[in-house]
Amino acid sequence: MAYVIGVDIGTSGTKTVLFDEKGTVIASKTIEYPMYQPKNGYAEQDPADWANAAIQTIKAVVAQSGVRKEDVKGIGLSGQMHGLVMLDKDNNVIRRSIIWCDQRTAKEVDEMNEKLGRDKLIEITANPALTGWTAAKILWVKNNEPENYEKCRHILLPKDYIRFVLTHEYATEVSDASGMQLLNVPGRDWSDEIIDGLGLDKTMLGKVYESCEVTGGLTDEIADMVGLCEGTPVVGGAGDNAAAAVGTGVVEDGRAFTTIGTSGVVFAHTSKISIDKLGRVHTCCAAVPGAWHVMGVTQGAGLSLKWFRDNFCNAEKETSSQMGVDPYYLMDKEAATVPIGSNRLLYLPYLMGERTPHLDPDARGVFFGLSAMHQKKDLLRAVMEGVSYSLRDCVEVFKQMDINVSDMMACGGGGSSPLWRQMLADLYACPVKTASSKEGPALGVALLAAVGTGIYSSVPEACREVVKTDKIQEPIAENIKPYNDFYKLYTEIYPALKACYKNLAAL
Ligand code: XUL
Repeated sequence: MAYVIGVDIGTSGTKTVLFDEKGTVIASKTIEYPMYQPKNGYAEQDPADWANAAIQTIKAVVAQSGVRKEDVKGIGLSGQMHGLVMLDKDNNVIRRSIIWCDQRTAKEVDEMNEKLGRDKLIEITANPALTGWTAAKILWVKNNEPENYEKCRHILLPKDYIRFVLTHEYATEVSDASGMQLLNVPGRDWSDEIIDGLGLDKTMLGKVYESCEVTGGLTDEIADMVGLCEGTPVVGGAGDNAAAAVGTGVVEDGRAFTTIGTSGVVFAHTSKISIDKLGRVHTCCAAVPGAWHVMGVTQGAGLSLKWFRDNFCNAEKETSSQMGVDPYYLMDKEAATVPIGSNRLLYLPYLMGERTPHLDPDARGVFFGLSAMHQKKDLLRAVMEGVSYSLRDCVEVFKQMDINVSDMMACGGGGSSPLWRQMLADLYACPVKTASSKEGPALGVALLAAVGTGIYSSVPEACREVVKTDKIQEPIAENIKPYNDFYKLYTEIYPALKACYKNLAAL
């Protein structure tokens, strides 16, 4: 039997899973780390935490599995997109990584539009200038920390920094590179026009591969450290969303998934490139060679519920640890006792600004309709409903782009909540399925490693062999109208507050 490893460098932690070639989990290990928020709207992580977590989790799954090291055929890397890692001439990390949900770059987005024009950016990078994407972060460092920019020789994304640690190669792949805003997305390679136009240096960027191509092998030193063979192939892998698509079998037209992780994403595969001229959803290269995907993003999905848990749910945390269950399990049960609409309470999940459909870094969270009758459980359900309304916003944009979804999967931590999945089924008015494997991105990149090392001949073939569906949540007919009524009101609140958000940011 052959084995493959998937490493997912997420925002809350790194999860590494060792699978057999049929996708069965043999061993799994997660290590968590902090996110730093030195100012309102800032978000940073320490690349040393990712590297330590990646090495320790690979070492742990290899040891736990008892598998012979010769039988581990390849490694795939997945990770949070857009984060900026800068290395100096000696490959030292220059500053903490500015990560995907950081919103400090409004001025740099203006600069990008002035230098290149909005239309050119959309034509080449398939997306308008975005505060969370890497190009704006590079410009921010150039403008605000010239001493750091001066020292910079290499620019890498989070999972590509881990690739460097494991293999000493400076490389990336098309799905994650799409989110740097320096790639020609239709042409699947760096764009000189964009890089030169922004005054950046192409020699700082790694080589671009397709997601299932081998990009290098484990160095001697790392192989010894983790208990694998020197030269074990590391394939391109994919950004977390493109990786989750492979892990849930979303590799053909008509297929889509919703993930509720720290961010929330609605993602649809498309064999023909499709771009929203208003930039409300992103278009990126898929991990399947020759295909693309569109995705709408809610900045604060699981992040909203985690924020609520950590600030207001100590009692649930205590009870759940006595019961040996996850606090989210108890929170789910509590929220399920509250009726649809949370007793007329709505929540806007804009804790870290919002992308789809508003593209507004200044937006912030709101509870709308608070009354003295409300209890904590009403707020809790309102948070889950608000996240679901914002995911419905993404589906509405897809409809306007004529992207029809006939098959919706749910994944991510939030996708394991039956209540949350029911909200999605009722709001989308379509069945929502789960995959029998819960490993989403880690499985996706392990399958890319299986394709890259010849175990399977193509990504769709690997998915057909391995990915199976499990539970299906059908929409409940009588829930559709009340949810639609609350959703309609939800869509009216942001426009009413838009100017106030600007004023708040200026205070
Ligand atoms: C996608 C995005 C997030 C991150 C973190 O554009 O920013 O989904 O990849 O998970």
